[in-house]
Amino acid sequence: MEDKGIPREQIFRMIRKYKEKDLTHLSGRILGSMCTFPHPVGVEAYLMFLESNMGDPGLFPGTKAIEDEVITILGELLGKRDVFGHIITGGTEANLMAMRAARNYRRVENPEIIVPKSAHFSFRKAADILCLKLNKADLNDDYRVKLTSVENLISDNTVAMVGVAGTTEMGKVDPIEELSDICLENNIYLHVDAAFGGYTIPFLKEAGFDLPKFDFSLQGVSSITIDPHKMGLAPIPTGGVLFREKKYLESMAIETPYLTEDMQSTMVGTRSGAAAAATWALLKHLGKDGYRKIAVECMELTYFLADGIKKAGFELVTPPQLNIVAFRSKNISVNEIARHLEDKGWAISMASYPDSIRIIVMPHLKREHIEEFLADLELINED
Ligand SMILES: Cc1ncc(COP(=O)(O)O)c(C=O)c1O
Repeated sequence: MEDKGIPREQIFRMIRKYKEKDLTHLSGRILGSMCTFPHPVGVEAYLMFLESNMGDPGLFPGTKAIEDEVITILGELLGKRDVFGHIITGGTEANLMAMRAARNYRRVENPEIIVPKSAHFSFRKAADILCLKLNKADLNDDYRVKLTSVENLISDNTVAMVGVAGTTEMGKVDPIEELSDICLENNIYLHVDAAFGGYTIPFLKEAGFDLPKFDFSLQGVSSITIDPHKMGLAPIPTGGVLFREKKYLESMAIETPYLTEDMQSTMVGTRSGAAAAATWALLKHLGKDGYRKIAVECMELTYFLADGIKKAGFELVTPPQLNIVAFRSKNISVNEIARHLEDKGWAISMASYPDSIRIIVMPHLKREHIEEFLADLELINED
């Protein structure tokens, strides 16, 4: 650390050099991330509330009112207006909170959870932190969880079951309605990880897409993860967790002697109010029409990409259900395809089950980016 401070202009000249090394979403080169360029209205609201700490809400009653309103709006979007929850850092924290609530609520010795093999690795973190045994259920050929496998894993110690609405690698929606029935029958807590699909499935359904039920309209669903910083276009870090009943939040509540609230249920203490403000501003600004348009455009581009991939001589792992396309080749290894694409400057990502290239068609991607990508993909097969 320097003894003497550096003038402002010089600081920004210096720091810009680091920024120039980063990729940008708007370049259209980032094809393997669930994050996107944040919407300017969300950014403006975020900046306005930088000093708000939701860890001490009595100091910021205005921001707290915003968070409460956001939770109600998201609940309404997901089938139940009177839900309880928080705006937090992202899907990992939301899944961790949901697993903690389920564990604390049941309080059994040697608790276990059942997650699909496709579940995000945040459940492994949750299992590690919360000392839960993680049981992984098999998938069907369509990469959605196999119900018989789920049922076989149920034990007296099962404190939670997880279904995913928009799996990380394939973008699939698990049969949540059937999981809900199984959970009701066995008195098990069902958490739906809709970190990715929560901001699209409701709008796509309205637009006529054939997608299954996945939300609080199903009586067995106890909690839902929904991430504004993915398809909600909010700045990072902005996640959301919603609970059907207050008792789940209460099962995690810890006394907070020196703060303006008596009890706290979140994992973290000091917590950004800016995230809630950005989410509120975007829900109001874009409205249902805006989010529906974004979701439908992403799906149209997804179908265009999937079609182009097949025309370029590659095979889709599975037909896309949401805006994720996974593909591979009969003749070229996935690593080799990845190397060719990376050499051309594409930031793709790889799926592990099965090994494949995975493209997430986020709102920052436009048709010209996909056309350019497909042209490079065609060259691989010609080499
Ligand atoms: C389905 C799902 N859940 C949870 C997460 C974790 O979200 P975050 O990275 O915001 O913690 C992801 C991230 O990709 C995801 O795809």
